[in-house]
Amino acid sequence: MHAELIDGVAVSKKIRDEVAARCAALAARGVVPGLTVVLVGDDAASAVYVRNKEKQSVEAGMKGETIRLPASTSQEELLAVVDRLNADPAVHGILVQMPLPKQIDPQTVIRRLAPHKDVDGFHPVNVGKVLIGEKDGFAPCTPAGVQMLLQEYGVDTGGKHVVIIGRSNIVGKPMASLLIQPGKGGDATVTICHSRTPDLSWHTKRADIVIAAVGRPGTVTGDMLKPGAVVIDVGINRIADPTTKSGARLVGDVDFESARLTASKITPVPGGVGQMTIALLLRNTVRAAEQSIPAATVAG
Ligand code: GUN
Repeated sequence: MHAELIDGVAVSKKIRDEVAARCAALAARGVVPGLTVVLVGDDAASAVYVRNKEKQSVEAGMKGETIRLPASTSQEELLAVVDRLNADPAVHGILVQMPLPKQIDPQTVIRRLAPHKDVDGFHPVNVGKVLIGEKDGFAPCTPAGVQMLLQEYGVDTGGKHVVIIGRSNIVGKPMASLLIQPGKGGDATVTICHSRTPDLSWHTKRADIVIAAVGRPGTVTGDMLKPGAVVIDVGINRIADPTTKSGARLVGDVDFESARLTASKITPVPGGVGQMTIALLLRNTVRAAEQSIPAATVAG
């Protein structure tokens, strides 16, 4: 078997086009969706993500702004910025880029965000809403992107066994929350595996869908898969490769070459899940802007 590639670039483009149309409809009502990203310090990878977020939000028709703060910023200073953005009616979505410098507790900052502006879906109110299936909350962008890729490629999760590898608050746990909901895109039986799970392959061999999100190359190899499984690789790892010009290349958590021989569908890295995260962030932001308009105005 040679797996079909799941093209995150194409699907993310489709979402960004849909977001742009919704932004245009809002603009006609005098509302420009505003997304503000707060970047503290000078982590190189974060700086790249943040530039892409700003660029793509502006391309979609939003007001994309980035607030850059020095690595020495105190927690109180960052909380004051969050308070100001919470109170600003032109800001519909706020994203505080992680990781934060060590003097700042990320959970304290996340709890300070107004839940209706938390387009990352990290605030406990949104985490809870996603878990209980309330649709007005914001789901974290990466797992929401994975769910959308599965739907776009006709992968029915209903009654399927999904094995998620990784229990992070950003991917693993919310991924399980989304997939166990009743209805389209859900209805799955979910197993979450993590660093303390003995015999990972015992689980993955029983999976119809494997979602790898641990940040370790080679975590899943072809011999760990059931023939015909769908493989979603959330990992983005930079490894040394002297054959490339930069001396490094990006790989996922899945050994792509062996997995593609057993899987029926697989996401590449890059070009798979990674593209989806920003697209879903933009979608959450346009929804935050739509939800900020009083119902009577929307209907009118
Ligand atoms: N750092 C890596 N991924 C993310 C993300 O999705 N949101 C935020 N805020 N920070 C991140």
